[in-house]
Amino acid sequence: MINRQDASLDVAENAKGAQKLRPSFIAVLAQSLDGFIANSRSDPLPWIPKEDKLWFKHIAQATRHVVIGRQTFLVLPKVALKNRIHWVLSTRSPQSYVFRLQEHFGLTNLDLTPVFTDKLQRYQAGQDTVQDAVKIYRLSDSVFWVHTSKGSQSFDTQLKTLLRFWYEEGIKKMVIAGGAHIYDLFFRKDLVDELYLTIVMTVLGQGIAWDEYNYIKRFQLQDILTKSTDYIRLYFKRKE
Ligand SMILES: NC(=O)c1ccc[n+]([C@@H]2O[C@H](COP(=O)([O-])OP(=O)(O)OC[C@H]3O[C@@H](n4cnc5c(N)ncnc54)[C@H](OP(=O)(O)O)[C@@H]3O)[C@@H](O)[C@H]2O)c1
Repeated sequence: MINRQDASLDVAENAKGAQKLRPSFIAVLAQSLDGFIANSRSDPLPWIPKEDKLWFKHIAQATRHVVIGRQTFLVLPKVALKNRIHWVLSTRSPQSYVFRLQEHFGLTNLDLTPVFTDKLQRYQAGQDTVQDAVKIYRLSDSVFWVHTSKGSQSFDTQLKTLLRFWYEEGIKKMVIAGGAHIYDLFFRKDLVDELYLTIVMTVLGQGIAWDEYNYIKRFQLQDILTKSTDYIRLYFKRKE
C-alpha cells in the first residue's frame, strides 16, 4: 500500500491540470533475479552486464542531470564524471569527504562556500534564529553537493526546497541513479515518473534490496526494450 502521508509532495502535485513545479524524474535501476540491487554498500556491480552500464551512461549523459547518493557517488570511477552533472545527496558537508574527493576524483581546490543556502526563520516564540536547512556546493563543473541538515527541518521540507531550486534552475529532467537510500527516497515520495528496470539473470542470494513489491504497482509497463539471455530491460511509466 502506498503510504499516502508519505506520497506526493505539495510542490510536486501531479493532479491533472496542476503545474508540476519540479523536474521529471527517471529512475534507472538494475536488479538481480532475486531482487537485489547490490551485494553490499560498496558493490562496484560487476554482475551488471557491460552493455547495461553503457546504456546507463547514455541515458545519464542525454538527460545530463543525475541525482545520486553519497555512497554510490564515492564508488563511481573517475571517468564517470564526464559529460553529466551529479547532484550528490549527503547529510554531511563536503568538508567531511575532502580527502576522498581529492584522492578518488582528483577534485582539488574545492570551494566550500555554498552557492545556495536555504535560510529558515524559526517560528517558535522568542526564537528568531535563522537556520540553514539545505546547502548546495559547486565542487566542479560536474559535481554539486547537496547537504541536507539533520534536525532543524523535516526532510520533506528540505526536499521541497530542493525540488523548487532545481525547477527554478530550469532543470526539466533528472536521472535517479541510486543507491538504495536514494531510490527509496524518491519512490516513497511518489516522485518517480519513469522507470527503466533491468533484470539481470543472476542470483545474488543476499545484499541490498529495493522495495519492488510496494513501488512497482504504481507503474505501467510501456515496453520491453532489450532481451538477451543475460538481462532484460523494461520501461515503465507511472500510472496516471
Ligand atoms: N543496481 C543498481 O542499479 C544500483 C544503482 C546505484 C547504486 N547501486 C549500489 O547501491 C549501493 C549503495 O546504496 P546505499 O543505499 O548504501 O547508498 P546511497 O543511496 O548511494 O547513498 C546513501 C547516502 O546518501 C545520503 N543520504 C541518504 N538519505 C539522505 C537524505 N535524506 N538527505 C541527504 N542525504 C541522504 C547519505 O550520505 P551521508 O552518509 O554522507 O550523509 C547516505 O549515507 C552500492 O553498492 C551501489 O553500487 C546499485
